[in-house]
Amino acid sequence: MPRRIILDCDPGHDDAMAILLAHGSPEVELVAITTVAGNQTLDKTSRNAQRVATVAGIRDVPVAAGCDRPLLRELVTAADVHGTSGLDGHQWEDPTVPLAPTHAVDLIVELAMAGDVTLVPVGPLTNLAMALRREPRLADRVQEVVLMGGSFTRGNRTPAAEFNILVDPEAAAIVFEAGWPLTMVGLDLTHQALATPEVVARIRGLGTPLARTVVDLLEFYGARTPAGLAGAPVHDPCAVARVVRPELVECLPAFVAVETHGRWTSGMTVVDFRAERPNAQVATRLDVDGFWDLMVGAIERIGGG
Ligand code: RIB
Ligand code: CA
Repeated sequence: MPRRIILDCDPGHDDAMAILLAHGSPEVELVAITTVAGNQTLDKTSRNAQRVATVAGIRDVPVAAGCDRPLLRELVTAADVHGTSGLDGHQWEDPTVPLAPTHAVDLIVELAMAGDVTLVPVGPLTNLAMALRREPRLADRVQEVVLMGGSFTRGNRTPAAEFNILVDPEAAAIVFEAGWPLTMVGLDLTHQALATPEVVARIRGLGTPLARTVVDLLEFYGARTPAGLAGAPVHDPCAVARVVRPELVECLPAFVAVETHGRWTSGMTVVDFRAERPNAQVATRLDVDGFWDLMVGAIERIGGG
């Protein structure tokens, strides 16, 4: 039976890849796409989710908008990485996939309380934190949370903090403290998933309109690759890959706490691999070839575009 997942995202170039990997993998059933403010403002991340769903032919999956700002803090976006639209680099047609009338938080609660749902948040954790406050029993009903965020070494937005956690540290603390089965796919793992020129050429070689769209996105995103990396790290599909084929993403148990008060370290995930009472599985090693076979295979399987 395919694992039923809700992808909570802030598209975002790598979020777009995560949507395609989820939709193009028969091992998972994408039951909802929910959006949150992060890489760009909520109106833009939501429209981008509609755009990706449209080009991928995702017709029967609700796309619902969620929170437009963090729980306490002012919103910080990442236009320097994802552009003014949040998904720059491609000429988008108007999306034909509508936004659902339901708020993402209500949709997450409704679907997750029905059972057998894995939550895959790949943006700031505001929606999940609000869902937990809306329905505290969620922590006992959700099969697992597999999130892209955090790091057990250094951050990417500050020396200490990864972007998704930094945007809403209070929400992240609520999610890590909820007691549900949780896997953290952080930068230590995602910096192994690099869209090198060889990877981009492989995707271009598929020759479909969707492949060309993905190449447009990766070429824009790749032009902003952090120094020292051989290609742009596609963070978010790594979390989906952990659900699709867990063996591709090795993890170790750890206790993870989120710093919410540090003057220099706010948003840091403090990871203790020696903890006696771990609260998370933390991703450490990626089967890189296996990951790209999965990602390219999903784009090929969707075709069209
Ligand atoms: O730090 C990387 C994360 O922040 C990714 O999810 C990216 O899409 C941005 O949201
Ligand atoms: Ca994201």
